[in-house]
Parts: sequence; C-alpha cells; structure tokens
Amino acid sequence: MSNSSTQFEPKIIAFCCYYCAYSAADLAGSMRLQYPANVRLIEMPCTGKTDVRVLLEAFENGADGVYVAGCLEGDCHFLKGNLRAKKRVQYAKKLLDEIGIGGERLEMFNLASSMGPRFAEIAREFTEKIRQLGPNPLKKHNTCSQEEAKEKNVS
Ligand code: FES
Repeated sequence: MSNSSTQFEPKIIAFCCYYCAYSAADLAGSMRLQYPANVRLIEMPCTGKTDVRVLLEAFENGADGVYVAGCLEGDCHFLKGNLRAKKRVQYAKKLLDEIGIGGERLEMFNLASSMGPRFAEIAREFTEKIRQLGPNPLKKHNTCSQEEAKEKNVS
C-alpha cells in the first residue's frame, strides 16, 4: 500500500516540562510503552518558559507539528507557568492560522509525571493527527523556493 499518508512521517517537536511530561516520558520508557519515534522531546524547566517566537521557529525549521506538555492545571511547580503557556499557545495558534500553517498543528497538553501511558497516547494521537494533516505548508513553499532558485542559477 503506498499512498501519501503512509509515506509521510511527520516531524514533531514536544516541549516538555521536566516535572511532568518529561518524567512521564521516562516512565513510558520504563514501562516499555511504544510511542512514535517522530516525536522529539525538548526538556524545559517549566512550560512557563514557552516563547511564542520559539514555537513559530520550530515550524520555520521544519516541524510538521508542535506541542507543549506541562503539569496539570493547579500543579505547576512555578504556580502559574502552565497557565501562561496555555495563553501563549492559544496566541501562537491564532498566528499560525493567520499565516496559513494552521493552528491545529500546535497543541498544549497537561499531565502528571505518573501518566506514562497518557504520555504515549498523546504522542501517538498527535502524530496521527499531523500525519492526516500532511506536511507543514512552509516546507512545500521552501521546496518550491529552492527549486526556483536552482532554476534561476541554471539559466
Ligand atoms: Fe510543570 Fe510549570 S513546573 S508546567
């Protein structure tokens, strides 16, 4: 079977809070739970460090999907870091809609360090969602631009 959805392997970046999602990922590993290798984890001290610019740059650098995973609401070790992250993710989603990348490619999740199975489930579900959406539209644009540049250099 060869259609584009089976050939496309999305590149996913997950910004994970050290205290919850990152620990949940460790737990998932210890429990030998499978989750897609498409997801690259970036550890952060708290999702309160989430920066809209960094989220957008992840897409600019070729991510097809990005998510931020923080502590459960009310459980942030820095009090309201995850609530700040939630607002920033909402804002970045609007920007992604406006520039045509699509806000649905960015999500925020909340989980506890004990939720290894939930971590694996999020990774699987999000990867599948992005696989269905297809490649980041910026990639197509960049590929076209590179091809145009090559053609111009040849002629
Ligand atoms: Fe986990 Fe703030 S410490 S989101």
